[in-house]
Amino acid sequence: MKLKIGIAGISGRIGQRIVEIINSNDNLEVSCGLVSAYSKYKNDDFPVSNKCQKSDVWIDFSTPDAFEIVLKHCIESKTPLVSGTTGLSKKHFKEIENAAQTIPVLWASNFAISVNLIQNLLSKYTQLRDSDVTITETHHIHKTDKPSGTAISLARSIKPHGILKSVKEDEFLLEDVKIKSIRDKEIAGIHQIELENKSEIIKISHSAKTPKIFAQGALNVTKWLLNKEHGIYTMNEYIDSLS
Ligand SMILES: NC(=O)c1ccc[n+]([C@@H]2O[C@H](COP(=O)([O-])OP(=O)(O)OC[C@H]3O[C@@H](n4cnc5c(N)ncnc54)[C@H](OP(=O)(O)O)[C@@H]3O)[C@@H](O)[C@H]2O)c1
Repeated sequence: MKLKIGIAGISGRIGQRIVEIINSNDNLEVSCGLVSAYSKYKNDDFPVSNKCQKSDVWIDFSTPDAFEIVLKHCIESKTPLVSGTTGLSKKHFKEIENAAQTIPVLWASNFAISVNLIQNLLSKYTQLRDSDVTITETHHIHKTDKPSGTAISLARSIKPHGILKSVKEDEFLLEDVKIKSIRDKEIAGIHQIELENKSEIIKISHSAKTPKIFAQGALNVTKWLLNKEHGIYTMNEYIDSLS
């Protein structure tokens, strides 16, 4: 039997990549899609609307508003949820914690394994060497949230309890970690991290060559999450399961 996957944000940049990958896999099937009430997206192969329908699992790459809809549906229908939607608030993360009482949930700001490994490296290094850190994120001009969820997660790997503050339109501080945002053309996502202390300067750069990396990453995680008990799961736990 094919795994029936609901996709929130199905008409979007990442949603469409997820559909492509599912369509090229004999064991997977798109069951339905969630879009806004104003969407122009049409599809004859599966139902698409502003409401969620029962699926084996839901994958969400949408907006904070749509995230609320899909999370509520997943709790009510006891369906596992994988979400990559960024721009979520504290309230949303609290809702994820509540949902985890009944369903398995994994939210990640970045589904590229490499970015999560970079986060671990930053966390470890800055515990050993106090450093000045600047994170510069560059994304396509359609991206609505700023700074990127990945930039915030990278900064939080250094200052876990830091509160994000806006300094200028495109400049932010998470405690003393500086974050700069650039919006340019159709760039899938570049994150550059520079660390400096008395002894060394370290520069780390990650460029997504295609948004497909996030879609494939989310699908891989979905298969792993599927039969788990209720609870909150992380990319680190998924990565650990690979070795
Ligand atoms: N975690 C990661 O690895 C990762 C990677 C890339 C992107 N992201 C995040 O994923 C999200 C989506 O990115 P994207 O580039 O695919 O965005 P996008 O192209 O703008 O797509 C947004 C999708 O959300 C739908 N949507 C908007 N408002 C909605 C509502 N009120 N109810 C239901 N659906 C609604 C849109 O449908 P219609 O417009 O057709 O209504 C569209 O399908 C963003 O938060 C982005 O930052 C995460």
